[in-house]
Amino acid sequence: MNNPKQKIKELSEKIRKHNYNYYILSQPTISDYDFDMLLEELQKLEKQNPEYVEPDSPTKRVGGDITKDFKQVVHKYPMLSLSNTYSIGEIVDFDERVKKIINDEVEYVCELKYDGVAINITYKNGLLFQAVTRGDGIHGDDVTANVKTIRTIPLRLHGNYPVEFEIRGEIFYPHKGFEKLNAERQEIGELPFANPRNAASGTLKMQDSAIVAKRPLDCFLYNIVGENLPFNSHYDNINEAKKWDFKISNNIAICKNISEINEFINDWDKARKNLAFDIDGIVIKVNSYRQQEQLGFTAKSPRWAIAYKFKAERVSTELLSIAYQVGRTGAITPVANLKPVHLAGTTVKRASLHNSDIIKELDVRIGDTVYVEKGGEIIPKIVGVDLLERKTDSKAVEFISHCPECNTLLIKKEDEANHYCPNEDNCPPQIKGKLEHFISRKAMNIDSLGEGKIEILFDNKLVRNIADLYDLNYKSLFGLEKIFPAENEKNEKKISFQKKTTENILNAIDASKQVPFERVLFAIGIRFVGGTVAKILAFHFKTIDNLIKADFEELISVDEIGDKIAESLINFFNKPENILIIERLKAAGLQFELENIPKLISSKLEGKTIVASGRLTNFTRDEIKQTIEEHGGKAVSAISSKVNFVLAGENMGPTKLKKAQSLKIPIIEEDEFLEMLK
Ligand code: IVH
Repeated sequence: MNNPKQKIKELSEKIRKHNYNYYILSQPTISDYDFDMLLEELQKLEKQNPEYVEPDSPTKRVGGDITKDFKQVVHKYPMLSLSNTYSIGEIVDFDERVKKIINDEVEYVCELKYDGVAINITYKNGLLFQAVTRGDGIHGDDVTANVKTIRTIPLRLHGNYPVEFEIRGEIFYPHKGFEKLNAERQEIGELPFANPRNAASGTLKMQDSAIVAKRPLDCFLYNIVGENLPFNSHYDNINEAKKWDFKISNNIAICKNISEINEFINDWDKARKNLAFDIDGIVIKVNSYRQQEQLGFTAKSPRWAIAYKFKAERVSTELLSIAYQVGRTGAITPVANLKPVHLAGTTVKRASLHNSDIIKELDVRIGDTVYVEKGGEIIPKIVGVDLLERKTDSKAVEFISHCPECNTLLIKKEDEANHYCPNEDNCPPQIKGKLEHFISRKAMNIDSLGEGKIEILFDNKLVRNIADLYDLNYKSLFGLEKIFPAENEKNEKKISFQKKTTENILNAIDASKQVPFERVLFAIGIRFVGGTVAKILAFHFKTIDNLIKADFEELISVDEIGDKIAESLINFFNKPENILIIERLKAAGLQFELENIPKLISSKLEGKTIVASGRLTNFTRDEIKQTIEEHGGKAVSAISSKVNFVLAGENMGPTKLKKAQSLKIPIIEEDEFLEMLK
């Protein structure tokens, strides 16, 4: 097939179909690999023929558009909220209010109430036009670029859809992805999201849609608004929208009376525990549009709908004490020790209190009777205090001022909620935490060591930092042992370093010397440098020495490296102790250079920093980068005063061009560039 326009069209159609099979029907007909190959082929074709890129191209799913400030959009139809209730009695009242106005039979539709972020999406002529958050109900933020990356939201519709309409739904973060995201955040020293709803709203407001594309956001649609809808009832329209490719829940029922509504509520109050995402109640809507119109709205919400909210399971118990835990990054987490209490199938003895602000806000005091809930959150939390039970001599909690482990004065930055222990090189849990991170599977994978063994090495003063691991030998390890007391339903445990154990540990430490550079970089434990960032840095800078030398400007010119990461890297490498550790690790034989560093063909571009922009005739993006490097130059993407020249292809971005001109950076064309290499 030689016609690229036609080929792009066909490939896009094919990919759309596979997307639909995978995300909506859950019945993929090709492997993930084959799918990725198709997408890659389309991306390549689009790059070569930007004039044929379709506005709804499936490549939009991988993101890339950056939004600095979200545009405010006025909703054509305001996005109201629903009145809430926690009791069936109030649903009975609602039904009576409705019947009083309608004076006829009323049919209700019961749906799940998804616990996420509301979104309003406009479609024009079958294409996704705009996606806007609820905001204050009157104006919302235009988050179109981010919403386009959500695979279950169609970019182009099929079937017999109205020419223009709005569809509303809830964007949510499924449990599995949420747990993974939080584990990753903790790995790089970022605070975890408190619940999937926060993770969804945080993700939806990110500036870089390429990051959003990597997160598994999902969306159920539950309301259609517009003038020319095919049916005159909610149930029929929403089911019809399935045919246009929207993800509409099957868990919708028509209920003719209170007892049917009650049954739906009770069934889902039990079954919600098995869902892969959070719901916080049931929404009950009058089905007929004619009746909805008759009922109208109050100032805040429609009279034709109500939300029944599930009660989070809640118990009360005594707050015995507050313990303070110190994490790998030095963050202090207050933890409530509770009188054990039964809650939603488990015995709860502890609850996180997050930080000093939360303690102040709740005004919890030692000896208080506190309410503990397990709602959407996975970890139980204290939601309030029974003030009637408060002891007369109770005092407000004074947050600790010094580290409970090393007694260093704690610090708290104004823009952060957590207190930190700054003694990162000498505070025992921070040292042990860094060692545990270093040996972990995704880092150096020294699997014969573990938490307990690290503690033994630490107690015996054999390790104080990660470089010390490479000084261990048979003599220093053999015979060490420790008995760990019983805790948390676990029995007493004895660990001893016998011959086999010792050999295994030394072998695993030795094998770790082959772990590639990008994983070593992750293992070192620089704040905000997780697995992905470490990979980006390793591939960009190739060697640790290049990375150490890089200044702030150079760091942030790398795609996906922002101010926070750059600052953290500079702070880390500014400390002589860290440089010393790296030198010792180097001497031990760890990998601090990327394998397959491109070979040098010439040094014609030596010392030159070059930006290639726009479409080139002889090179793809990867090829031009490689060519620059093969001739000793450095390829960067952002224009700064450090750039020696810009290699301009067709359609070079106007902002880049302007910036290059204002900095008086020479702009050369491809022919001239090829001449330079001759
Ligand atoms: S219908 C006029 N249906 O709950 C309001 N809302 O408190 C129309 N929600 O802002 C909303 N699941 O974000 C509707 N099945 C569902 C829902 C649902 C979750 C959210 C939505 C809304 C909030 C109302």
